[in-house]
Amino acid sequence: MAMELATTPWSEAAADWLIVPMTKSPQLTGALASLDESLGGAVGRLIESGDVSGKPAERVTIPDAPGIAAGRVLLVGLGDVETLNPTILHKALMSAARQTSGKENRTVAVAIPEGLTATDVACEIAASFTVGCVGQDLYRAERAHHPFQSVTILGSADADQGELASAVERGSILGEAVNITRDLVNRPAYEVYPASFAKRAEALANDHGLKCEVLDKKRLQKERMGAILAVAAGSEKGPRVVVLEHRGGGDDAPTLALVGKGVTFDSGGLSLKTSEGMKTMKCDMAGAATVLGAMTAIARLNLPVNITGYMGLTENMVSGSSYKLGDVLTARNGVTIEVLNTDAEGRLVLADVLSYAVDKGADRIIDLATLTGACVVALGEEVTGAFANDQPWCDEVLSAAKTCGEDAWQMPMFDLFDDLIKSDVSDIKNIGGRWGGAITAAKFLQRFVGDKPWVHLDIAGPAFASSNKSHREGGATGCMVHTLVETAAQFGNGG
Ligand code: BES
Ligand code: MN
Ligand code: ZN
Repeated sequence: MAMELATTPWSEAAADWLIVPMTKSPQLTGALASLDESLGGAVGRLIESGDVSGKPAERVTIPDAPGIAAGRVLLVGLGDVETLNPTILHKALMSAARQTSGKENRTVAVAIPEGLTATDVACEIAASFTVGCVGQDLYRAERAHHPFQSVTILGSADADQGELASAVERGSILGEAVNITRDLVNRPAYEVYPASFAKRAEALANDHGLKCEVLDKKRLQKERMGAILAVAAGSEKGPRVVVLEHRGGGDDAPTLALVGKGVTFDSGGLSLKTSEGMKTMKCDMAGAATVLGAMTAIARLNLPVNITGYMGLTENMVSGSSYKLGDVLTARNGVTIEVLNTDAEGRLVLADVLSYAVDKGADRIIDLATLTGACVVALGEEVTGAFANDQPWCDEVLSAAKTCGEDAWQMPMFDLFDDLIKSDVSDIKNIGGRWGGAITAAKFLQRFVGDKPWVHLDIAGPAFASSNKSHREGGATGCMVHTLVETAAQFGNGG
């Protein structure tokens, strides 16, 4: 998809759609005034009549626009300049992209409004128009969204064109990374299983210059990963652990490990889920897909940092060879685990992969997992739960999330929750009872990160959306890809 930067006046941009974001109580000055003039005062009249106010989520179409080069105009509200934040900007541009990508081969020109930071807006335009034109209807004859033939971003001629161009490049890379994650999560489990996920990771690693290692079942046995192997026991498809390395920071620089839960299908195992509970469980590898998407962007952006991505891949299935309730597993770091529910499998997968990351020299860790329904109960479907053993590190990740307009909220890790996962027969058990389930799951994971600063992101709510909204497609969302890339970038700034 062609993504271009131009300094053409708004009225002269030739495209099917001219998209003009505007803040609240728009003033007819500068570029907006000259557009209004070319449109014979149409914008002014809409403002006058109250049909256009620039409030957030407002979208008004001028369907027929003689006097300008574009076929029609879409005015998009951003709300007050003072309260404008990355979330509002992102939602507004995503809505515009989704609305204008309904037909094939469309061309759009998107104006950067005056008075905002042009590079931020340019980056967000590139990202949103890359993501917004791809739907979850991968298998439908008539798709609801189509890639644009071209997206032209209209910058001011006064702006530093080099800076704008690199912002557009960055936005495209982020958008494409999000789409990689979404594509993997949206595909059903017969297509995306541990070996096929690993193949895709290898191919992407080759494309983007990442070092890639795939550990198969034999190797996992050799590495004493008794927990992920137990989860995998009921599946005909063997487990994999994929390790991707980006070394942009040199040998003395610290390494950030990104660790993802990659359960390519979670039936619950012998603690079988209901049909209702199982129907979206192709999404249970979203943590791993998020790590993979982010790693491609980190490599393409050439970030001057050392980042290693770890993906723990397995199915959780029912068969005569499934792991059972009462089993006691020994994880890689020697911790013994009593299995009291085979549906609490994500923490078992992560247990081994987290200790592997620690053994491989991770200095700091972030893990991502669609880990608990309890987290969705606590924070709703759109907010990521954050859990940490180190407050400064958690603050860094949360501040990156804020910069990216992704909602995350920290949950407490009081000592009292440790008691809830004590077992009578082994070191710990894999469930902590009914209450505080997202926290006891995090407490479980903490047993496998040693003393490394670590943040666990529970994305069970936001990774997979149940329905379409004007600003985002249902299905996989690609949440936290931006945040990981931003955290990685900050990691290079002495973090
Ligand atoms: N993959 C699920 C969690 C999940 C639920 C993700 C809803 C996305 C949407 C996880 O493996 C799971 O089954 N967790 C159990 C844990 C329980 C058995 C302690 C849960 O949340 O019910
Ligand atoms: Mn489960
Ligand atoms: Zn799961």
